[in-house]
Amino acid sequence: TKSRKPMVAGNWKMNGSLALLTAFTQAVELSTVVDKVLCVPFPYLAAAGKGDFAIGAQDCSQFESGAHTGDIAVSMLKELGVEYVIVGHSERRQDHGESNEDIAAKVSTVLKAGLTPILCVGEPLELRQSNTFKEYVLEQLKAVDEICGRSALSQCVIAYEPIWAIGTGMTATPEQAQEVHEFIRTQISDWCEAAGHSRILYGGSVNASNAELLFAKPDIDGGLIGGASLKIEDFVVICNAAK
Ligand code: G3P
Repeated sequence: TKSRKPMVAGNWKMNGSLALLTAFTQAVELSTVVDKVLCVPFPYLAAAGKGDFAIGAQDCSQFESGAHTGDIAVSMLKELGVEYVIVGHSERRQDHGESNEDIAAKVSTVLKAGLTPILCVGEPLELRQSNTFKEYVLEQLKAVDEICGRSALSQCVIAYEPIWAIGTGMTATPEQAQEVHEFIRTQISDWCEAAGHSRILYGGSVNASNAELLFAKPDIDGGLIGGASLKIEDFVVICNAAK
C-alpha cells in the first residue's frame, strides 16, 4: 500500500446530461479508501453535490472577478461546493491556446481560494517519438513552480496525460506511465520536499480492464478518467481498482 491516498477523478469533458448525473448520484456507493471526484461541465455543478463524490470543475478563470464575459470565477465554484479544479488540460491548451504561464496563473488563483488544482501535463506524440517528452513535461511543471512559488506543486494533484493516449485507446503501458510518474516525483521533490508527497494520477484511455495494472505501479496514485467516467459500471470498477 502507498502512503498517499488513491484518487480517481472522472472528467466528463463536454459530455453527459442532467439525467446521467442523477443516475450517478443515486446509484453509486463507493469505497471510502479512495478519493472520488467527478468533474462535470459547469451547468451541472450545482446538481453534482448529492452523490458519493467530491465535485470538480474542468477549468476556471485566472481572474477573481471582473469584465471577463463567459468566464467562471473560483469563488463561484466554491459557492457550489466545488473542491477540485482541473487546470491545464491538453484540450484547453490546444483549443484555447493556454500557455504554461496562463495555467500557472490559474493554479495560483485556485490555491488562493483554498481549492485543489488537478494540474494536467503530458506530451504530444512527436515528443514521445523523439524521446524528448520528459523535458517537455518538466517545462510544464517548472512554470508552475517558478510562477506560483516553491510549495505550489505540493498542494496540487498532478495528472500525467500523454496526449497520444487521450481518447485514442492507446493507453500508456504501466511501465511507460510509471517511468514518467517517477521522473515527475523526483523532480518536484527536488524543488520542494513536500511536493514529493503529491498525488500523481495517470490519464489517457484508462478503462475497467487496464486500471488495476496501472494503479499497481508505485508512483501511480490513481487516474483521471475521460470516456470511461461516463459509464457508471466502468467508473465504479476503476474507482475500486485504486484501493
Ligand atoms: O482528463 C481525462 C482525459 O483526458 C483522458 O480521456 O477518454 O482517454 O480517458 P480518456
